[in-house]
Amino acid sequence: MARKFPEGFLWGGATAANQLEGGYLEGGKGLTSVDLIPHGEQRFQVALGELHYSEVKEGSFFPSHEAIDFYTHYKEDIALFAEMGLKSYRFSMAWSRIFPTGFETEPNEEGLQFYENVIDELLKYGIEPVVTINHFDVPKTLIDEYGSWRDRRMVDLFVNYASALFNRFKGKVKYWISFNEINMLLHLPFMGAGIYLGDLKEEERNQVLYSAAHHELLASAKITKVLHEIDPDAKMGSMLAAGEYYPYSANPQDVWEANLDNRDNFFFIDVQAGGEYPEWAKIKFEEEGIDIGITEEDKEILRDNTVDYITFSYYASRVSKADLSDVEVDSGNAFQGAKNPYLEVSEWGWAIDPLGLRTTMNGLWDRYRKPLFIVENGLGAKDTVEADGSINDDYRINYLKAHINAFMDAVEQDGIPLIGYTPWGIIDLVSASTGEMSKRYGLIYVDRQDDGSGDLSRSKKKSFDWYKEVIETNGQAA
Ligand code: BG6
Repeated sequence: MARKFPEGFLWGGATAANQLEGGYLEGGKGLTSVDLIPHGEQRFQVALGELHYSEVKEGSFFPSHEAIDFYTHYKEDIALFAEMGLKSYRFSMAWSRIFPTGFETEPNEEGLQFYENVIDELLKYGIEPVVTINHFDVPKTLIDEYGSWRDRRMVDLFVNYASALFNRFKGKVKYWISFNEINMLLHLPFMGAGIYLGDLKEEERNQVLYSAAHHELLASAKITKVLHEIDPDAKMGSMLAAGEYYPYSANPQDVWEANLDNRDNFFFIDVQAGGEYPEWAKIKFEEEGIDIGITEEDKEILRDNTVDYITFSYYASRVSKADLSDVEVDSGNAFQGAKNPYLEVSEWGWAIDPLGLRTTMNGLWDRYRKPLFIVENGLGAKDTVEADGSINDDYRINYLKAHINAFMDAVEQDGIPLIGYTPWGIIDLVSASTGEMSKRYGLIYVDRQDDGSGDLSRSKKKSFDWYKEVIETNGQAA
């Protein structure tokens, strides 16, 4: 049956500065949190905020430093995006390219110029830029001086940074996203928000984490206000690492556990989209003696400056169980839960659940009633380059095809307004969780290996032509 999918949909692709650009000290850029997270066994401990970056073994390899060198290859890469037919490209700007330490009063012109070149190149091909202002990077100096987002002074520094972007790119960028996967702050505090917890007692941690959360939420509301003043046509989105929690069984304890997990996950977006903290969170803060330092003025700012649209990443659904002791635990990603016995998993143990995307979209739409934008989804998999240079990634095509059909159903049959779809790692890049290159998401292959070897040449995978046709037919070919 022919699909009735709306015209003007933003078919696209997504990446992030620290996983793609390289050039980590080029153009006056300062060091940033992710530049301090090594590949290898210490990576997860540093990302969790348990091991201080200064304790990383000498001689460690830091994948962000060169990444896939988009910094010098951006024209070639954008030409490939255009050839694929992308209508949008989501990428992030690195705070420390614009304010190398975070403390400067004037932005670094070379950094701004680099991003302006990228934007102009996209616009040349009619590709809509979708810009994440902060995707897992905090200038190192702010980590050292302030302990990152635990300190309220971060808010104004972030507003300075975002304002510099809005002033420069006004009229060129319509879709902005404040913090990538803002809820990651609670799961991977250092990777998500530059927060080191290793020197804190267990009972002190929530005080630090929820204060940091408040500072990011306040910053997000403040920059939404500034954006609307500077460029009334532009839109600000929140960004959630989404994935519905299913109850493991019909046991009311499991159902309740799923409710708790879902509302925890929605915590940030409840504030960004609803304008106030949920009641349960206020009670939690009270009971646990957590003081986030919220003022009456903060409350007004949060209330008056909610986001225009909701963006999210979706890789997998999750499973909640009140008692995890008698089941296999899902160790695939940063979200703890039970393994879903009904689902296949990727080579990295991430559950594959296309229908879960439709369920997740319905949950977000019912809760917030704001347009949605899927800004990450994809399959991390090992690719084989055949003798003739071809890469036959049918597994990736199957994954994307199933997820595309699921969101098209959500649009056509559930009536959910969806702005676009930018699958993750449209071009191979460094994996955030593992630091590997071999966990490839791209539709474009990059000859770069886990140890940094490879000539960085780009080539098209089978999925490249397939996605091109999907875009050309506005989804009919999926
Ligand atoms: C999201 C992040 O968590 O998932 C990306 O926003 C990340 O930065 C993506 O790369 C996929 O995760 P990973 O760990 O496989 O790279």
